Amino acid sequence: MASSIFPLLSLFLLLLQPLFSAANLRRNSLLRPEILSQSTPLNATPPTLYFEVTKPIELPNTKPCSYLILQHDFGYTYGKPPVFANYTPPSHCPSKKFSKIVFEWNATCKGRQFDRIFGVWLGGVELLRSCTAEPRATGIVWSVRKDITRYYSLLMKNQTLAVYLGNVVNSIYTGVYHVNISIHFYPDKNSDNSLPKYDSPADLILPISRNLPLNDGLWFEIENSTYIERKEFKIPQNSYRALLEVYVSYHENDEFWYLNPTNEYIEANNLTGTPGNGPFREVVVSLDGEVVGAIWPFTVIYTGGVNPLLWRPITGIGSFNLPSYNIEITPFLGKILDGKAHKFGFSVTNALNVWYVDANLHLWLDRNSTKIEGKLLRHISLPDVVSVVSNFKGLNGKFLTSVSRSISSAGWLKSSLGNITTHWVQNFNYSNSMVMGNDGDLQIVDQIIHFNDSVQAKIPSSSVYSTKSHKKYAVHLYYNSLDQGNGTSFSFENLTLGFNEKNSEAAGFGLSKSSLKNVQNTQGNMVVKDNLVVRGLGSTQQVYKYNGSNVCYFRNISSSNYTILYDKVVDKCRSRRTQYSHFGHGLSRWWPFPARRAFLGSSNMVDSSTAS
Ligand SMILES: *[C@@H]1O[C@H](CO)[C@@H](O)[C@H](O)[C@H]1NC(C)=O
Ligand SMILES: *[C@@H]1O[C@H](CO)[C@@H](O)[C@H](O)[C@H]1NC(C)=O
Ligand SMILES: *[C@@H]1O[C@H](CO)[C@@H](O)[C@H](O)[C@H]1NC(C)=O
Ligand SMILES: *[C@@H]1O[C@H](CO)[C@@H](O)[C@H](O)[C@H]1NC(C)=O
Ligand SMILES: *[C@@H]1O[C@H](CO)[C@@H](O)[C@H](O)[C@H]1NC(C)=O
Ligand SMILES: *[C@@H]1O[C@H](CO)[C@@H](O)[C@H](O)[C@H]1NC(C)=O
Ligand SMILES: *[C@@H]1O[C@H](CO)[C@@H](O)[C@H](O)[C@H]1NC(C)=O
Ligand SMILES: *[C@@H]1O[C@H](CO)[C@@H](O)[C@H](O)[C@H]1NC(C)=O
Ligand SMILES: *[C@@H]1O[C@H](CO)[C@@H](O)[C@H](O)[C@H]1NC(C)=O
Ligand SMILES: *[C@@H]1O[C@H](CO)[C@@H](O)[C@H](O)[C@H]1NC(C)=O
Ligand SMILES: *[C@@H]1O[C@H](CO)[C@@H](O)[C@H](O)[C@H]1NC(C)=O
Ligand SMILES: *[C@@H]1O[C@H](CO)[C@@H](O)[C@H](O)[C@H]1NC(C)=O
Repeated sequence: MASSIFPLLSLFLLLLQPLFSAANLRRNSLLRPEILSQSTPLNATPPTLYFEVTKPIELPNTKPCSYLILQHDFGYTYGKPPVFANYTPPSHCPSKKFSKIVFEWNATCKGRQFDRIFGVWLGGVELLRSCTAEPRATGIVWSVRKDITRYYSLLMKNQTLAVYLGNVVNSIYTGVYHVNISIHFYPDKNSDNSLPKYDSPADLILPISRNLPLNDGLWFEIENSTYIERKEFKIPQNSYRALLEVYVSYHENDEFWYLNPTNEYIEANNLTGTPGNGPFREVVVSLDGEVVGAIWPFTVIYTGGVNPLLWRPITGIGSFNLPSYNIEITPFLGKILDGKAHKFGFSVTNALNVWYVDANLHLWLDRNSTKIEGKLLRHISLPDVVSVVSNFKGLNGKFLTSVSRSISSAGWLKSSLGNITTHWVQNFNYSNSMVMGNDGDLQIVDQIIHFNDSVQAKIPSSSVYSTKSHKKYAVHLYYNSLDQGNGTSFSFENLTLGFNEKNSEAAGFGLSKSSLKNVQNTQGNMVVKDNLVVRGLGSTQQVYKYNGSNVCYFRNISSSNYTILYDKVVDKCRSRRTQYSHFGHGLSRWWPFPARRAFLGSSNMVDSSTAS
């Protein structure tokens, strides 16, 4: 009965091997079998290049100052402290001002290894959450580039860089990850010593992560639905804007949370050990005990997930650069500008072991004021409205879960520019339809999350600044597995992932819009014996379509059995879109504006390389 609803069965098989205790192996489930290395490779075979389809980062036309920050081989690193490196700002660079800063992770690996989650922190502030690619016997190579200009103030000071990648290497799992981390600083074209006009990163970024020393990542680990992880912080009293950027990833029993059946179904069928709590999860962020925002995460599938052959060489959306999510804290500033310590709290509704969560608090400071006063005017956080309709008999049935939620707040701040009122709204809705068939061997899941958020800031008698975004996260999985009864199973899987986003930003008379449609369709089959994929095929088609104010990027690509079948790229806009017109005065100059990276999206995926 090795089926999609009995994911732990295969974990147990794995766990019987003494080296791999549950604690040791941060991974789970039948949906992540491992590829058996093929026969002895020819030495001449070049390593395979794996990649995630995303638009290239827009770079200024200047020569970067580049630094290799860390070179490290991640061998047996599990349960050991993160790897550290001293970071110093680029002192030997002719320019001291940069309009773009790009982080680059280059890695190679050869042999047999699982996909491993990793994090990169600078001064405790998370810069990147990612997943390694799974190697082949003939070797692989991959590169992750991320626009980190948003962390500008942090990058201008001496810091400690920390990287945690918990790997296990032994006679079976031979893959060592050889990694280089570089940072590229692109000097500002206008060497007039001013920061880029359309890009004002925060003046200060506070880490909301675990303190050193520790023996794994700086993320908090949330293992159940009742636990609230809290972290104390203090902000300067002249902060006029605050934005909390949250990183999340889910593992083990919640790696495929959107596929988890209800507890009622599990109990009725005596499926002890099957991860349950139903398919809805949300990360809830609180400030001094009050809910200030929520995150309904995109369903990132790691490089070994569902069928590892689907992700070679085109990896799953977000797997090499997990999205982070923004929560606007500005309306609440009035409550935390008192110079005292306050607490952020993180919890995960319905969580099973384990979620890795941490955050960065981006703060903008009023240079003409030492103390800002403010007040929260309104705060409405209604609980989730949940509906679960289930109809099952034995192992077969249908389940429909729908959830919606709304959180909004408003507050004013009296700064050197005047009295600014900020409104922030989050609206979510979610639906998950799950069908179990063939006595549990067949699972069909369709999940859609709609997520709107908006920020509006206004000074009386002056301009209004506002951003709006609408996101749609979709996942569809068809998974049919046929157990052969001798430790072998055949399975067929069709999977669709969709990450769509529409953003708009208005200031004075200026308006800017962007949209992203990013959809992956995949089909796979495999023969799994004792948790090893012994045979199989994976095919992926992806269409990525981004339209911004100044930049457009379109890519239509397909792969099957490690080979690219077609790849079409168009990186020109078909017609001129709305340009930034002249922005208003007052607020637009003062508010960190347009600061699209920090502001627009709740997700970095689109914003990380938005035009400057
Ligand atoms: C990292 O890898 C990419 C792609 O293979 C390559 O273009 C780039 O030059 C590499 N970066 C460094 C610093 O070696
Ligand atoms: C890392 O950098 C070193 C020195 O430049 C180079 O020899 C090596 O190939 C690089 N490794 C990767 C994975 O890019
Ligand atoms: C930063 O580090 C460099 C190199 O270690 C050192 O020379 C410099 O004095 C440090 N700067 C500060 C402000 O600590
Ligand atoms: C939830 O997790 C926390 C932290 O890991 C732990 O202390 C607590 O006992 C757990 N609660 C339950 C009900 O398992
Ligand atoms: C579950 O276990 C109980 C008690 O052992 C038993 O009475 C019941 O028939 C079992 N149900 C199924 C569906 O196996
Ligand atoms: C501070 O005041 C000066 C002079 O009044 C002005 O030029 C500057 O823009 C102000 N800075 C901020 C951050 O408001
Ligand atoms: C700022 O404006 C709000 C209304 O938007 C008002 O309630 C508040 O009293 C004003 N604050 C000051 C200091 O004027
Ligand atoms: C998001 O905004 C759109 C357009 O304003 C609206 O049609 C939709 O119902 C909103 N969705 C949610 C979940 O609030
Ligand atoms: C959820 O939001 C979408 C678009 O935002 C809308 O079309 C749909 O009707 C909403 N569903 C519910 C149940 O509110
Ligand atoms: C297991 O069963 C399948 C299907 O019956 C068969 O093709 C395969 O050879 C069997 N494997 C072993 C090792 O017995
Ligand atoms: C799976 O995908 C293939 C190829 O797109 C398609 O022919 C097949 O009908 C799909 N199966 C299901 C059950 O959706
Ligand atoms: C995949 O490609 C390899 C050669 O690279 C070939 O031997 C194998 O038969 C192909 N598999 C399928 C299922 O097409």
